[in-house]
Amino acid sequence: MKPFISFENVSFKYAPEQPKPVLDRINLTVEEGSFVTVLGHNGSGKSTLAKHLNAILTPTEGKVYVDGIDTADEEKLFELRQRVGMVFQNPDNQIVATVVEEDVAFAPENLGVPPAEIRKRVDDALEAVGMSEYKEAASYHLSGGQKQRIAIAGVLAMMPKCIVLDEPTAMLDPQGRKEVMNTIRELNRKAGITIVMITHFMNEAIMADRVVVMDEGRIVLDGGPYEVFSHVEELKSVGLDVPQTTELIYLLKRAGVDIDKTVLTDEECADVLYGLLEGQR
Ligand SMILES: Nc1ncnc2c1ncn2[C@@H]1O[C@H](COP(=O)(O)OP(=O)(O)OP(=O)(O)O)[C@@H](O)[C@H]1O
Ligand SMILES: [Mg+2]
Repeated sequence: MKPFISFENVSFKYAPEQPKPVLDRINLTVEEGSFVTVLGHNGSGKSTLAKHLNAILTPTEGKVYVDGIDTADEEKLFELRQRVGMVFQNPDNQIVATVVEEDVAFAPENLGVPPAEIRKRVDDALEAVGMSEYKEAASYHLSGGQKQRIAIAGVLAMMPKCIVLDEPTAMLDPQGRKEVMNTIRELNRKAGITIVMITHFMNEAIMADRVVVMDEGRIVLDGGPYEVFSHVEELKSVGLDVPQTTELIYLLKRAGVDIDKTVLTDEECADVLYGLLEGQR
């Protein structure tokens, strides 16, 4: 299958005098329809990487292709931005209209989409994020999680193939986080939208098909969640924590307990512990 996103030896500096590149020879491909999370400590280059996906930034060296479009090709900028939508951390900065449905209609209106088509897109987008009943609500009255879902609906109304989310749950309470994560997962599974999501939350990272770990502008680990989280020492050495359950099982293994798998969720951890206790009876 042709990759949807492809970074070919990409390096990036914000200014020529920066001593070290912020992205350092990145090679990365993402298949269409996949769900990738990007992890890394503060300043490792995650947001810089994300901004290369819809040409907010373009490489200092190397090439980024998205759906066959060279992101440095200015003539294709409009086409590129229709295909890749971005969602950022702060929902308040992304809401532009006071009424929910007007907010969601904003981008397609600017694109000159005919009114009947806009109506359908807005309804479909609100339905997809579970916010249909709020279409006439005042956007400033919504909770953080609801606002973020409206921001996602605004992106969906552009009918993108890919959504890039830079810490979309960082400012939300646990309920809001759950709502937004469920929405993202549904968009991936049901609508087949390619998702690239930056997060600091390990329990969110493990919902993806693939986890990419960055450190100092480079990709240091890349694989399925079970594969990546089996590298407990490497993750710690780049300043990341692993899920507590993963760590517990890892410590037991290191202490000589016979366990042959990596666990990610509480349920898997409980199963392994239960199995061990059963074995001792
Ligand atoms: N506009 C800018 N000009 C100069 N340097 C920048 C700029 N934005 C980011 N940087 C630097 O680039 C590096 C990577 O920043 P980036 O924001 O991509 O990291 P990040 O992994 O997203 O971090 P965080 O987890 O804090 O969001 C950092 O050293 C940062 O100081
Ligand atoms: Mg960032």
